[in-house]
Amino acid sequence: MKGILVTFEGIEGSGKSTLITLVSDAFKQIGVEQFVTREPGGTDLGKSLRKVLLAPQGADITPLAELFLYAADRTQHINEVLLPAIKAGKAVLCDRFSDATEAYQGYGRGIPLKIVKAVIDQAREGLIPDLTVLLDLPPAKSLVRVRKRNIRNSLTDETRFDDEELAFHERVREGYLAISGREPERFLILDGMASPDDLARKVMEELENRFGPLK
Ligand SMILES: Nc1ncnc2c1ncn2[C@@H]1O[C@H](COP(=O)(O)OP(=O)(O)OP(=O)(O)O)[C@@H](O)[C@H]1O
Ligand SMILES: [Mg+2]
Repeated sequence: MKGILVTFEGIEGSGKSTLITLVSDAFKQIGVEQFVTREPGGTDLGKSLRKVLLAPQGADITPLAELFLYAADRTQHINEVLLPAIKAGKAVLCDRFSDATEAYQGYGRGIPLKIVKAVIDQAREGLIPDLTVLLDLPPAKSLVRVRKRNIRNSLTDETRFDDEELAFHERVREGYLAISGREPERFLILDGMASPDDLARKVMEELENRFGPLK
């Protein structure tokens, strides 16, 4: 199979990491050459940026500063990691990508979409995902999951969006739906309330439909 970029999007706790793990396991079973990564934090620079961006005290970052930090993470990630992996023929599974910037910084934070899109386009180096899986569900449901997960894992630094009000997450969800409505052919929209196994099966089916036999 030629190299492809598959991105996973959705609000906090929508199940992106869980789904990526299952898809990655399925890839392993059939011997697909893969690379799993995430934004922010897919490079050394990105790891430093992730700490800054997701630190609970990071709430002091201005919206524009936040936008630029995500863009810095992305352009480094694309050049250092994503493009080489795709070129090497790997199936790249990326936890969040440009759509997250538009949904969170644009629809969520309220930075004018024109500005967000201009920054995203500068940072993307022409790279557009071959498929974007959007996990959609009401934030009220996903935030309950996030709280449970974080208590279970004693996570205190996972994400600062968890503390944001529900309305913010509603705006982000609507943002994702608006973006996918604009580019329906790039998206596979899945019900985030479905079981993880069902979701993984749907993603594998979609990949085979689009790109042919995976191995
Ligand atoms: N399809 C699902 N059905 C029920 N629970 C799920 C499902 N997917 C994930 N979960 C649970 O919900 C919680 C959040 O899932 P996960 O960490 O995969 O979400 P995420 O989208 O990666 O979150 P974040 O945006 O914070 O990284 C976890 O405890 C996970 O076990
Ligand atoms: Mg995750």
